[in-house]
Amino acid sequence: MRINKKITDDLVDYIQKQYEFNVEDYPDMLEHLLDLQLCIDEAVLSRYFGNTKESADAKKYWRQHLKFETRKTGRQLLDKINALQKQSKDPIKIVDVGCGDNDWKEHFGKQVIGIDPYNKNADVPLSIERFSKEVIHSSCDVVLVLGSVNFGDKDTIMQQMTAAAKLVKPGGKLFLRANPGITHVNEYAKWVDFFHWTEEYIIYLAEALGFTVNELTWDHPESDLDTPNGNRYYSEWTKT
Ligand SMILES: C[S@@+](CC[C@H](N)C(=O)[O-])C[C@H]1O[C@@H](n2cnc3c(N)ncnc32)[C@H](O)[C@@H]1O
Repeated sequence: MRINKKITDDLVDYIQKQYEFNVEDYPDMLEHLLDLQLCIDEAVLSRYFGNTKESADAKKYWRQHLKFETRKTGRQLLDKINALQKQSKDPIKIVDVGCGDNDWKEHFGKQVIGIDPYNKNADVPLSIERFSKEVIHSSCDVVLVLGSVNFGDKDTIMQQMTAAAKLVKPGGKLFLRANPGITHVNEYAKWVDFFHWTEEYIIYLAEALGFTVNELTWDHPESDLDTPNGNRYYSEWTKT
């Protein structure tokens, strides 16, 4: 089960203060509390990333095409994918995990399938966990994970990355944009549990999932001091 530590700790504190029970001493209560935190977390993510009035302001900061000309996951990524297409005799297949507004459609049309459980612009309205169970594994040339496997505890991140990695063909690419644990400056992000990605964990995960890391750096140039909500890791992996 995905654990949102911020919500879980808050519920545990509330029960301690209000009723003077330590939830951990009551296995049934703990089980229900964990179910409840998941329901709240789903609502929090849906409000923040769905097509809601609350998400409109937040999008100004995380949207893919922001600073497209200078970030690694903008034009430079577009050029890389176009180069992969040139090397291939067949149209390459791309899956955009957590596609948000599905901005890569503008460049790749039907070659890209955008999946997202909360945004109605997705081609497939599913989480990566569910999507990966329904498609043929090792069938994609490129899998994009751009800011979408960033929420919840380490086990959840591992499960979601495992699901994304299974889609990639041997020799195919996975492009990752990962948050080093920065909570967005937005009142609706307050309860989103942003995972603290590190360089070490990116390398560990890539190797554990059968990839070689080709590149690991920052998404925005370090000289760019105007990056609202901070910089992100950027990494390119190839499946061995
Ligand atoms: C920070 S936004 C990035 C959106 C898009 N990739 C971009 O860069 O514009 C994170 C996206 O991940 C999606 N997301 C969250 N959990 C997900 C999951 N389990 N599977 C797939 N997408 C997920 C959210 O709905 C949201 O659209």
